[in-house]
Amino acid sequence: MNPVSEFEESVARNVNNLKQDDELRKQSIDWMSKSIPHRYSYNFRWMGRPIIQYPQDMIAMQEILWRVQPDLIVETGIAHGGSLVFYASICELIGKGEVLGIDIDIRTHNREAIETHPMFKRITMLEGSSTSPEMIAQVKAIAENKKVLVVLDSNHTHDHVLAELHAYAPLVALGSYCVVFDTVIEDMPANLYPDRPWDTGNNPKTATRAFLAEHSNFVVDDDIEAKILITVAPSGYLRRVE
Ligand SMILES: C[S@@+](CC[C@H](N)C(=O)[O-])C[C@H]1O[C@@H](n2cnc3c(N)ncnc32)[C@H](O)[C@@H]1O
Repeated sequence: MNPVSEFEESVARNVNNLKQDDELRKQSIDWMSKSIPHRYSYNFRWMGRPIIQYPQDMIAMQEILWRVQPDLIVETGIAHGGSLVFYASICELIGKGEVLGIDIDIRTHNREAIETHPMFKRITMLEGSSTSPEMIAQVKAIAENKKVLVVLDSNHTHDHVLAELHAYAPLVALGSYCVVFDTVIEDMPANLYPDRPWDTGNNPKTATRAFLAEHSNFVVDDDIEAKILITVAPSGYLRRVE
């Protein structure tokens, strides 16, 4: 057999075996629930900017970006800008792609640091709620005729994420992704986020379930969560298939 397909098949077998390993999946969820109270996701930076992610999800995003090679990545939720800089740096390496970030509150020090960052040449930021009709119209106009990938990482309540899915999932190109972060909240013990409006029963996973029940043009790419094991986005890597 050709060594390239042989290697690919062995990785596919690894991933399928991981899908069957209930004990390891359980341990991964347990590890997540123990790392969240330590605010583990705040520990990292990409090219100097704080990125609020788990490193495994960043590797998954890198693989997706290389595979899809989008013209435009739309992300709701900027915070310190680390994820925008991360996607922009991958676009820079690929040699194509722009990043559009949306946040209801872009704090002055974050804006200044992002605007003076070497990757800012591939970044545009819009301030306002991701679900306001004005914002949705602006993003739609920018996305027109582009191969789009969407990342939802703003307010993690059911209603907000469902409204974002209705607004932004239709922009996603065939074969590209709508990534819904923090679906893991549903798999965690209740009251793990006491100072937040989201909890079990009210989070990105419940919104994604409601959306998928009415939209067969997206499917969960469960190979991704199986291969990385540690993820904030179980059932959140949605691939557009129609
Ligand atoms: C989890 S942080 C984003 C993290 C960032 N994507 C990263 O990976 O580093 C969530 C952000 O969503 C923003 N946000 C909250 N509600 C929003 C809304 N209605 N519209 C847009 N952004 C919102 C917050 O201001 C906050 O900066």
